[in-house]
Amino acid sequence: MRTIRLGRTDVQVPVVSLGTWAYGGENTSASGQSIGWSGHDAEEARAALRAAHAHGITHWDTADVYGDGRSEQLLGELWGDVPRDDVFLASKVGWDAGGHAHYYHPDLVRERVERSLRNLKTDVIDLYYLHHCDFGPRDVYLDDALEVLVRAKEAGKIRFIGLSDWSCHNVMRVIARVDPDVVQPLRNLTADSWVESGLQAWCAEHDVGVAFFSPIRHGLLLGKYDGPTHFPDGDFRKTDGAFLDADLIARLRDNARALRDGLSHLAEPVLSGLIAPLLADAPTACVLLGQRTPRHVESAARADALLSRYEVRWVRSLFAGLAR
Ligand SMILES: NC(=O)c1ccc[n+]([C@@H]2O[C@H](COP(=O)([O-])OP(=O)(O)OC[C@H]3O[C@@H](n4cnc5c(N)ncnc54)[C@H](OP(=O)(O)O)[C@@H]3O)[C@@H](O)[C@H]2O)c1
Repeated sequence: MRTIRLGRTDVQVPVVSLGTWAYGGENTSASGQSIGWSGHDAEEARAALRAAHAHGITHWDTADVYGDGRSEQLLGELWGDVPRDDVFLASKVGWDAGGHAHYYHPDLVRERVERSLRNLKTDVIDLYYLHHCDFGPRDVYLDDALEVLVRAKEAGKIRFIGLSDWSCHNVMRVIARVDPDVVQPLRNLTADSWVESGLQAWCAEHDVGVAFFSPIRHGLLLGKYDGPTHFPDGDFRKTDGAFLDADLIARLRDNARALRDGLSHLAEPVLSGLIAPLLADAPTACVLLGQRTPRHVESAARADALLSRYEVRWVRSLFAGLAR
């Protein structure tokens, strides 16, 4: 697996790194929103992690809120099979207020750092993110939440501080105040404000590491769906209208066919075709690919190919106009 230097952390991580949102299983927020994934199988997930380690996919991303800690716990149970020191381990705080006035109340952030350490059965978490950029009215919770992470870093409980959001513009709004070591924005071929938001320029200037999330839009961009697809309650994909869009799904099937033909010299033409353009203009970036089974990991391990400038341009042209 090809690696990159994750910006100023100076840590080498695999270009295709591993996300574990789905390891939390089905989940519903306090307000009744579907925020998890159906189809989780803990045995398969453990086998996927062992295979990932064997293939050098050793940057694992989780969060306090994935299955209310179940994803973190599954990772924490693995250190008998996978040496803890082999893994660059990232988690997050911010999407579950846990009875506090705000999900960045400093008491909550402090509690969650300790809970993540316990769940992950580790003395130190390599990278701890603020999961989103809503810090309350006039960002009133920002400084105190950040202060908790800075203290945790000084105490050796976390090594690096990260900042995440579904919107690159939101990240840009607070990035100067947070000064993160790593950012985790959404980026895929149908949702891409990395350059236009100014985040690309900021990361280049400040040597910030980058982990793009949902690089294949929760599996949709692979073109593997035959038509509109319904997911059960508790599955986040139920809330993404693109899974019900027959025209988009047909276009994505055509695109997958085009990638298989046009990039047939690659081991994983579709997966590489979707991922490589995201990394082409981001030298300190990896993608966080959700890998729930050993089969997903086998594909991911072959999907680190580089594309030529012409191929990147061609792939982008296939997806132009498909933002939904
Ligand atoms: N910071 C944030 O706010 C945030 C938000 C979202 C995600 N993330 C992180 O980013 C990670 C990845 O994002 P994501 O989970 O939304 O989606 P993703 O990586 O775009 O898609 C992953 C899904 O695609 C399918 N898939 C993957 N490889 C495949 C293969 N080779 N063949 C067929 N299907 C395959 C799997 O689902 P099926 O098998 O069910 O189709 C898998 O769960 C998350 O796990 C999480 O760590 C962070």
